[in-house]
Amino acid sequence: MVGSISISGVSKHFVNPTGERITALDNVSLDIPAGSFVSLIGPSGCGKSTLLRLISGLIPMDDGSLMLDGTPIKAPGADRGFMFQEHTLFPWLSIYDNIAFGLRARGIYKQEKDHVDEFIEMVGLKGFEHSYPHQLSGGMCQRASLARALVGKPKVLLLDEPLGALDAFTRMNMQDEILRIWKETGMTAIMVTHDVDEAVYLSDKVVVMTPRPGRITGTLDIKLARPRARSSEDFLHYRAEILRQLHYGGTIKEPNYYI
Ligand SMILES: Nc1ncnc2c1ncn2[C@@H]1O[C@H](COP(=O)(O)OP(=O)(O)OP(=O)(O)O)[C@@H](O)[C@H]1O
Ligand SMILES: [Mg+2]
Repeated sequence: MVGSISISGVSKHFVNPTGERITALDNVSLDIPAGSFVSLIGPSGCGKSTLLRLISGLIPMDDGSLMLDGTPIKAPGADRGFMFQEHTLFPWLSIYDNIAFGLRARGIYKQEKDHVDEFIEMVGLKGFEHSYPHQLSGGMCQRASLARALVGKPKVLLLDEPLGALDAFTRMNMQDEILRIWKETGMTAIMVTHDVDEAVYLSDKVVVMTPRPGRITGTLDIKLARPRARSSEDFLHYRAEILRQLHYGGTIKEPNYYI
């Protein structure tokens, strides 16, 4: 299997417009086995999107080493599919042309054409191929972005809050779709989410991050068979542990009445 990522001692700084130096990532190390599903969770500004961007090769790191299957990552490549936090569909292209864009750019549209229809169907956008992004809801645009990231069958799928704009029910259905696609393709999935339940439901490993400076403060292997029951005791145990690591565990008070 291919698609293993090795992150070792990676740091990234930015300078904001006032000249202040921001440590977006400080000495971050993480090994992601090929074919696994890893979630990054943590408060706003802890460097989750920055870490995905570094893996995608869109921005360079300042320090450390970043490898895909043992080869240093230096630039973006078709082996990594990226679904951005904000949908980045081209407004002047139809949904179909947006999804087919990467295949055309790589000159492989003719042989891969069937996959465009396959993924349009998979994300539930059949019938909207000829619509333009402004004619779709936010959630539909997110699904189109997911299809665009998947259509080139990358080794590594990078998902930055992929389901953030969806209502709770569509979101749970899409989680199952993502799981199905991930299992079928065998790709490595790295997903940013703010949703603890989503992280436990989908992941083999949950990575907890904190801001200023952006660091990994804990990792948790979710050793539950799939499909997972969202209200099982084991599920709730993992949920509570992640919330505790994020310092949102709360305190359990003695009840002032008994039933
Ligand atoms: N291009 C940039 N220029 C300056 N600062 C940046 C840039 N990109 C990110 N940062 C800063 O780096 C830090 C980490 O940003 P990042 O977008 O990775 O956070 P995040 O964890 O994805 O947050 P969110 O959950 O809000 O999406 C933030 O303080 C942000 O302001
Ligand atoms: Mg982000």
